[in-house]
Amino acid sequence: MPAETIIKTNSLTKRFDSKLSGILAVDNLDIEVRRGEVFGFLGPNASGKTTTIGMLLGLIAPTSGTIELFGEDTAHNLPRLLKRTSAVLESSAFYPHLSGYDNLIIFAGTIGGIEKCRIDEVLETVGLRKRASSKVRTYSLGMRQRLSVATALLNDPELIIMDEPANGLDPSGIIEFRELTKSLGEQGKTVFISSHLLHEIEQTCDHVAIINKGRVLAQGSVNELLHRGKMLQISVPDPDTASDLLMNLDWVKTIEIDDSHIFVEITSEKAAEVNRILVTGGIAVSEIKMSENSLEDFFLDAIDEITRKPEEDNA
Ligand SMILES: Nc1ncnc2c1ncn2[C@@H]1O[C@H](COP(=O)(O)OP(=O)(O)OP(=O)(O)O)[C@@H](O)[C@H]1O
Ligand SMILES: [Mg+2]
Repeated sequence: MPAETIIKTNSLTKRFDSKLSGILAVDNLDIEVRRGEVFGFLGPNASGKTTTIGMLLGLIAPTSGTIELFGEDTAHNLPRLLKRTSAVLESSAFYPHLSGYDNLIIFAGTIGGIEKCRIDEVLETVGLRKRASSKVRTYSLGMRQRLSVATALLNDPELIIMDEPANGLDPSGIIEFRELTKSLGEQGKTVFISSHLLHEIEQTCDHVAIINKGRVLAQGSVNELLHRGKMLQISVPDPDTASDLLMNLDWVKTIEIDDSHIFVEITSEKAAEVNRILVTGGIAVSEIKMSENSLEDFFLDAIDEITRKPEEDNA
């Protein structure tokens, strides 16, 4: 049975209207995030990530479309649903002259019902226990980001939404943050994390939606999208016959041919098997090459595809 759906948007749309023009920031967006996923929301600048997150959290009113959190429509149940959710947004404000611990005490006071031992727990989770009594103004950016996550964890949320949390972090800060995000996933939290950094999403997330200009270009498991471009390019004298030999195998996803090649998209490491089948079938294989596209290639292809269709864009 598939895991429970935690976030679902249905044709979610936001148009910002000004006197002169309207900006279509989010355009019929359909995404689905399931329990326990570390879900990357990947898109370049101005693709609508922050606007979408604003709508998920009830900070921005959608122009049209609906949002379900935990299977319930947010139009009617938002305060109750947000109690099960936390957010780490671009600018978390702390009192710089107070310690990390005291900042958490203050945040806990605004939520209510948080025990002091919970503060120790969240400090431990984000790796700030040793620096808990230092003033926040002495914290690095990475430590401040981790303190933001600590505040978001206070109410033990099932869903954590983070908007570009890796922004501005140096490489070691990014690695620490990645480990923290993964550990949240391992604890069974559902994590929704926006980023314009392909490698970050590739290394941190198990699922991804790639967006551009407010539209979803692709979504699925990171592995699925990675394998999507795994092609064998095989040089053969008779591509039609070679294609017939392979076309009914369940691990062959697509086959294309030209005059002297066959291009086979496969689900796993089956190059040797393809070679064996062709040779046994009497085909003289002169060359086999594997090309594996990274998520980055896929992302760039997808962006390229959409920018080649400007007439469809009404932003
Ligand atoms: N309050 C607003 N009024 C008018 N236009 C807005 C407003 N907020 C966002 N936009 C526009 O909506 C589009 C999407 O913006 P958004 O901030 O959601 O993108 P983003 O993917 O978060 O970008 P970034 O990676 O730069 O953070 C942009 O064209 C932006 O200029
Ligand atoms: Mg943004």
